[in-house]
Amino acid sequence: MKTKNNNILVLLCLMTFFLIASGYTLLQDDWVVPEKYKNMENPYTQVEDEDEIGKDLYSMHCRSCHGKTGLGDGSKAFELESDVKDFTSKTFKSQSDGSIYFKIIIGRDEMPSFDKKIREEEDRWMLVNYVKSF
Ligand code: HEC
Repeated sequence: MKTKNNNILVLLCLMTFFLIASGYTLLQDDWVVPEKYKNMENPYTQVEDEDEIGKDLYSMHCRSCHGKTGLGDGSKAFELESDVKDFTSKTFKSQSDGSIYFKIIIGRDEMPSFDKKIREEEDRWMLVNYVKSF
C-alpha cells in the first residue's frame, strides 16, 4: 500500500515538472517588443556595408553563441539553458528590423545587452542587416 502511494507521488512530481518546463518554453518564445522599437525605421536598408562592420561585430561579440552561420550552434551555446535561436529560420526573418534591434540592444536573460558595447547607430543597424543575411 505504501509503495503505491509513493508511485503516485513520483508521478505527480514528474507531471508538475513537465508542466513548469513547457510553460517556461512557451514564455521564452514570447519576447514582447515595445511598439516604439517594433516600428522603428531601419535607416540603413539600402546602405552597402563596405567596411564589413556587421560581420566584424558579429565575429567579435556574437559568434561564440550564435555560431558562424547563425544557426545557434556556437561553442558557448551548449552551456546555456535557453535555446539560442536560428537566424536562418522563417520565424526569425519575419520580424521587423526594429524588433531585432531591440533584442540585440536590450537583451534578456542569457542574451546579453549590447547597449553599452555597441554605441553607434550605424554599427547597430549594420549588425541587424548582417544577422538578417544568414
Ligand atoms: C552568451 C551567449 C550569447 C551571445 C554572446 C549573444 N547572444 Fe543573442 N541570444 C542568445 C540567447 C540565449 C538568445 C535567446 C534568448 C531568449 O529567447 O530569451 C539570443 C537571442 C538573440 C536574438 C533574438 C532571436 C529571435 O528569435 O528573435 C537576436 C536578434 C540576437 N540574439 C542577436 C545577437 C547578436 C547580434 C549578438 C552579438 C552582438 C548576440 N546575440 C550575442 C545568446 C547570446
